[in-house]
Amino acid sequence: TPVAAVLPAGGSGERLGGATPKQFCAVQGRPLVSYTVRAMERISWIADIIVVVSPENIEIMKSIVERYGHKRVTIVKGGITRHRSIFNGLKVFAENKFSNHLLQKPEVVIIHDAVRPFVEEDILSKVVMAAKEHGAAGAIRPLVSTVIASAADGCLDHSLERARYRASEMPQAFLFDIIYEAYRQCTDYDLDYGTECLHLALKYCKTNAKLVEGTADLWKVTYKRDLYAAESIIKDNLS
Ligand code: CTP
Ligand code: MG
Repeated sequence: TPVAAVLPAGGSGERLGGATPKQFCAVQGRPLVSYTVRAMERISWIADIIVVVSPENIEIMKSIVERYGHKRVTIVKGGITRHRSIFNGLKVFAENKFSNHLLQKPEVVIIHDAVRPFVEEDILSKVVMAAKEHGAAGAIRPLVSTVIASAADGCLDHSLERARYRASEMPQAFLFDIIYEAYRQCTDYDLDYGTECLHLALKYCKTNAKLVEGTADLWKVTYKRDLYAAESIIKDNLS
């Protein structure tokens, strides 16, 4: 079955700080996004890889694609929120906007953050298989911290029982028609404030979403120290 991947890389990395968005930061001399693309390109059954970047970074992304020989990548213009970026990425298949590329509409689409470079075939095939069976699937991890809610006065309102909840990570996979339809039905509020793709698929397409246990290496580069962690993993892999 045809499988494609959409990698949102259109953010500005505010929590990490610095002038360069984290996906373009050099780690052992190579931009972070290039490791993520390479991880996808190592998997023969992923046909097309859509990398969604903000308009001002299209040229940077083009030069990365050129420099590292990322042959399966198509670059797409992102939006002001992650959901809008992902939706733009999906539109490429649905609307076949790019006449210069023969992009085949996939049966299953993987969505994976460009800033999670250590994704492996095992979890990707698990979420793809589960998406075929259930419509949608995503990697999860145990919570690191307990989730609590504060009341209006800034004091503790209630806390959740940590063992009963999971952190939603990436990759996720969807039947293409389901996730595309879900995004089409999204309100502006969903697109601007939503954080969870699986939730959109559930809300608008009444699919099931299978949760698949992932590994710790799926963590997202968010803060400066995460870049150092990524660097040390890459060094270990090289030696
Ligand atoms: N993303 C995107 N388009 C946006 C915002 C985010 O494609 N408008 C992407 C990011 O580039 C990243 C992924 O979504 O690969 C996960 O988002 P996050 O970790 O929040 O990245 P940023 O939004 O860049 O970082 P921050 O929230 O700290 O500003
Ligand atoms: Mg963000």
